[in-house]
Parts: sequence; structure tokens; C-alpha cells
Amino acid sequence: MKILMVCLGNICRSPLAEGIMKAKLPQNFFVDSAGTISMHEGKHPDTRAVKTASGHGINISEQKSRPITKGDFDTFDKIYCMDRAVHKEVISKAKNDEQRQKVLLFLEAAGNHENAEVPDPYWGDMKDFEEVFQLLDKGCDAIKNQILS
Ligand code: 4NP
Repeated sequence: MKILMVCLGNICRSPLAEGIMKAKLPQNFFVDSAGTISMHEGKHPDTRAVKTASGHGINISEQKSRPITKGDFDTFDKIYCMDRAVHKEVISKAKNDEQRQKVLLFLEAAGNHENAEVPDPYWGDMKDFEEVFQLLDKGCDAIKNQILS
């Protein structure tokens, strides 16, 4: 099973989601992340995301930002989007119903009824990154339970 986490820049939310999910799932699962924009392509995650993850024993410092590609819709079984704008953008890139069905809103898929969107912490501070981490951690637990059940 292959899982792709997607946000806008692939330097804050989806790298965290990738790191958290990798830490929860057995090694035979492939977890990756991508962005809808290529602005940060090749860059490591935001230092605040790296710090936040490391505070929870997760190393995301080696990840590199990349934009989502057409091939991702074939490679991955599930594509989890961090917010509605990203979801809309990713859906628009899918070429058929089979591909569209793979694209989900992360928190909705996780059954979080209070929030549908993982807030963008890019313009925020460390507290915002920690809140995003907690939201993603709970969401990844719920998705992991679905996948493994
Ligand atoms: P992310 O956060 O989508 O969680 O990686 C952002 C990163 C960069 C920008 C916006 C959001 N940006 O405008 O450059």
C-alpha cells in the first residue's frame, strides 16, 4: 500500500504527515509527500517543522520538497490532502474517476468532525506547528487503524 500526503509547499504540513505516518505504519507501507506548488522544490522541510518533529522523536530533516506529478496518481493508492484548496487542485489534476477516488481530505478521512482542514502554519509560530503536529498525529492514528483493520 502506498500513501501520499499533499499540502501546498511540501515544506510544513505534508512532510510532518509523512514522518508521522511512516513512524506508525509497518515498513512494507510506502509513505511519501508532495506539494501542489514547485516553489520550494528540492528544499528540506521548514526548520520549525523539523524541530517540531524532532521534539517527538521523528526525523524529517532528510526529506526534500517536490511537486505532485501525473505519475503519482498511478503510483499511490491513497492521496491525502491537507486542506480544501489543495484537495481541489489535486482533484483537478486527476485524469479519470479511478484517480479522483484516491484523493481524500486528510481530516475528513480521519473522521475528525471538528476540523476538515489542517491549518497552514507557515505564517505562524512554533505553537502553530505543535498544534498541526497534534492534529496530524491523531489523524494518522485514525487512518492507520482503518488501513490495518
Ligand atoms: P505547507 O506550508 O503547504 O504546509 O508546506 C506552506 C509552505 C510555503 C508556502 C505556503 C504554505 N508559501 O507560500 O511559500
